[in-house]
Amino acid sequence: MFPANGIFIFYLFLNLCAVKSEIVWYRPEQIHLAFGQNTSEITITWSTFSDTQESTVEYGIGGLILKAKGSSSLFVDGGNGHHSQYIHKVTLNNLTPHSRYVYHCGSNLGWSNIFWFKTPPQENWQPHIAIFGDMGNENAQSLTRLQEETQRELYDAILHVGDFAYDMNSENAKVGDEFMRQIESVAAYVPYMTCPGNHEEKYNFSNYRARFSMPNGPDFPAYSINIGPLHIISISTEVYYFLNYGLKPLVFQYQWLEDDLAKANLPENREKHPWIIVIGHRPMYCSNTDEDDCTKNETLTRVGLPFFQFFGLENLFYNYGVDVEIWAHEHSYERLWPIYNHIVLNGSYDAPYTNPKAPVHFTTGSAGCKEGRDNFTDPRPEWSAFSSRDYGFTRMKAYNRSHLYFEQVSDDKDGEVIDSFWVIKDNHGFYKNSIIDWAKIDSMRLKNFT
Ligand SMILES: *[C@@H]1O[C@H](CO)[C@@H](O)[C@H](O)[C@H]1NC(C)=O
Ligand SMILES: *[C@@H]1O[C@H](CO)[C@@H](O)[C@H](O)[C@H]1NC(C)=O
Ligand SMILES: *[C@@H]1O[C@H](CO)[C@@H](O)[C@H](O)[C@H]1NC(C)=O
Ligand SMILES: *[C@@H]1O[C@H](CO)[C@@H](O)[C@H](O)[C@H]1NC(C)=O
Ligand SMILES: *[C@@H]1O[C@H](CO)[C@@H](O)[C@H](O)[C@H]1NC(C)=O
Ligand SMILES: *[C@@H]1O[C@H](CO)[C@@H](O)[C@H](O)[C@H]1NC(C)=O
Ligand SMILES: [Fe+2]
Repeated sequence: MFPANGIFIFYLFLNLCAVKSEIVWYRPEQIHLAFGQNTSEITITWSTFSDTQESTVEYGIGGLILKAKGSSSLFVDGGNGHHSQYIHKVTLNNLTPHSRYVYHCGSNLGWSNIFWFKTPPQENWQPHIAIFGDMGNENAQSLTRLQEETQRELYDAILHVGDFAYDMNSENAKVGDEFMRQIESVAAYVPYMTCPGNHEEKYNFSNYRARFSMPNGPDFPAYSINIGPLHIISISTEVYYFLNYGLKPLVFQYQWLEDDLAKANLPENREKHPWIIVIGHRPMYCSNTDEDDCTKNETLTRVGLPFFQFFGLENLFYNYGVDVEIWAHEHSYERLWPIYNHIVLNGSYDAPYTNPKAPVHFTTGSAGCKEGRDNFTDPRPEWSAFSSRDYGFTRMKAYNRSHLYFEQVSDDKDGEVIDSFWVIKDNHGFYKNSIIDWAKIDSMRLKNFT
């Protein structure tokens, strides 16, 4: 019952206006940090749904006394909804070491809450890092503990080893927005460093590339960053699987990796950052029961492309003395004995990880997502040292050049540490049977000095 036809039509008109008009949304959300080119630079990334024409961070030690400007770009998801947002990026440089900064971000149309981050000490930094992969928007079992421990200032950085949100492009990228909001209480306080997984593939990895600001920029799949004594290399294993985007990403990444590893092995660099650690989404070895090439086949990333066996990464990482390789993708945790070409190469029988004769691999893909957990074969292969289906994540602490500590936290067991190990090295560098490309290393030396 309506009082009069005229008023009814007026209401209808108002409703149509409400549907048609755009909601204005200037306030920053989905705020997250990343290291810039090095750990003395921090890049702050956020989204607004309306164009603010300005991207500003006000920050400082103890107060918002400094100002930095960046830029934004319009990101349109590839789905039918053409969901669009402005993604803002501002890099803070010349940060004072060993300090606690406060910041907020936005524009004169609206500011975020105030957050903080800490800069590392110049010397004797013992970085403490949380590591996991395969964390969704739904069933993100580890997220609460990560939020709490981050805000208790336990961590210096996060490594999310691929597979976000499930998926960032789902529901016209609304799932991506919600995921980025959920991780804000971690990622607005510590650099949230990433690599892409298979769940990022849609529309040429565009959600991944637009939302995360990694050191080599959005168009290159890999990067490296020195974090105290660690040289962390983040790769895309997906360039071996989504060949629908061509071979170029795979070839370019491989060539970049060779250069980066040669450079990292120049004595002056390896001396400062002795631990070379690779993160990538799909493991080279696993003993899970689900259908994957690490369970059923030779892994493409390990041996390279079929028939040609070109661009295999296991040889490359072994030859250049990579210390630790960290993977995800399997929704479980598995630690391996030091391994090369399917052969276990313990440091010694009693102390397998003391001066190991090959890289140490583990897989940590159990932070929780809507796909649940993966199971393991019974019995365990001889190269598999420990495995668990518990939800959880890994903590890594680099004590010094010789001692690197890892522990696995179980969210099923209320945060209990279910596995821990030290990798101990008197010397870093090439393994006994490394095939060393000295010409490559020399060319890096020349590049460095010219
Ligand atoms: C960090 O990187 C920036 C940009 O490349 C450079 O200007 C700066 O000197 C670097 N800082 C350190 C401590 O290496
Ligand atoms: C995918 O994105 C990369 C990086 O921006 C670009 O170079 C490439 O041309 C794109 N490929 C396709 C098939 O769109
Ligand atoms: C594994 O190899 C078999 C036969 O060689 C092939 O049919 C199958 O598609 C491969 N699976 C994967 C996941 O690559
Ligand atoms: C490596 O060390 C572990 C722990 O001592 C042992 O169980 C395993 O059999 C060793 N593997 C080889 C091939 O020596
Ligand atoms: C996992 O695998 C083990 C051994 O193969 C089997 O006994 C167990 O029932 C499986 N668990 C689940 C939940 O599938
Ligand atoms: C490195 O750290 C470990 C673990 O705290 C310690 O036992 C060792 O003595 C340290 N080494 C040096 C050279 O400081
Ligand atoms: Fe995956």
